[in-house]
Amino acid sequence: TRTPVNVTVTGAAGQIGYALLFRIASGHLLGADVPVKLRLLEIPQGLKAAEGTAMELDDCAFPLLRGIDITDDPNVAFDGANVALLVGARPRTKGMERGDLLEANGGIFKPQGKAINDHAADDIRVLVVGNPANTNALIAQAAAPDVPAERFTAMTRLDHNRAISQLAARTGAAVSDIKRLTIWGNHSATQYPDIFHATVGGRNAAEVVDDEKWLADEFIPTVAKRGAAIIEARGASSAASAANAAIDHVHTWVNGTAEGDWTSMGIPSDGSYGVPEGLISSFPVTCKDGAYEIVQGLDINEFSRTRIDASVKELEEERDAVRGLGLI
Ligand code: NAI
Repeated sequence: TRTPVNVTVTGAAGQIGYALLFRIASGHLLGADVPVKLRLLEIPQGLKAAEGTAMELDDCAFPLLRGIDITDDPNVAFDGANVALLVGARPRTKGMERGDLLEANGGIFKPQGKAINDHAADDIRVLVVGNPANTNALIAQAAAPDVPAERFTAMTRLDHNRAISQLAARTGAAVSDIKRLTIWGNHSATQYPDIFHATVGGRNAAEVVDDEKWLADEFIPTVAKRGAAIIEARGASSAASAANAAIDHVHTWVNGTAEGDWTSMGIPSDGSYGVPEGLISSFPVTCKDGAYEIVQGLDINEFSRTRIDASVKELEEERDAVRGLGLI
């Protein structure tokens, strides 16, 4: 019998937490043969609701679920953690400036990064979902100097999945026929979903679509603004699809990308594609044996270059702002 994998989820009592925990416990995060122990981190006001969710998890009698701990102490939550899903974050409220938002999130992700540094297992893998995800990941990573930087990642998989779905709808292809799509840059409105290297049923996606106006005026804004469109329609933010993307991100990282395909992950840049080293930016990556690698050698055309640069510039501004606040 395998030793259970310790999975820590922050913001466990939130919307995404509720959609996420049941799928982790049923084996979708790591595999149908991998037992898990859950650690739920909440703020004191969220503990009671987290206990309610834990009662429901118990009531599912998941064969793979070997325990649930609930705490408001990061040092306890990350003790021995193998996988950490950092979902809880401070949302932007009315009248809040970007600096205030970054500072409030620094107060969450800096101590969590330190707790990961001091207590997590050697093989810890971190996914930051809470927004602003890329910069929150940068803050946590900077607070964890003893953990290899590449273990800190930010979620752009929801954007990746949204882009696949939009491209499938436009071309009439099945989602499973779409490969090699890339999200570049920041998980924000400046993100760039790139179809120039993607394929639809083996054919180049940009050639299949053959409509640059659709790309610029429909596809890119639809993907980038999908979160707002869902709030408008549902009256609540996208929680189930975000949880699904978090599951996909970690599952792919641990279990690998399919031969001939790649995925998108926000990861510390090594300087590839002109993205300054250390910025946590989304790239096309392949995963194998629990590690990821940036897909190299892609030809970046002018259309893509302008958009990647704009998103990277925004990431640099966020980095400079948190540096100015002493958060990194
Ligand atoms: P929510 O507000 O329903 O839940 C957040 C939970 O985090 C709350 O229960 C809160 O008590 C908890 N929390 C706050 N500070 C905490 C701390 N310091 N430690 C532990 N828990 C803490 O929000 P929801 O809908 O679950 O979304 C969570 C985050 O995910 C938001 O920042 C949202 O913007 C982000 N998000 C990111 C996406 C992405 O693609 N990267 C997609 C969708 C959402």
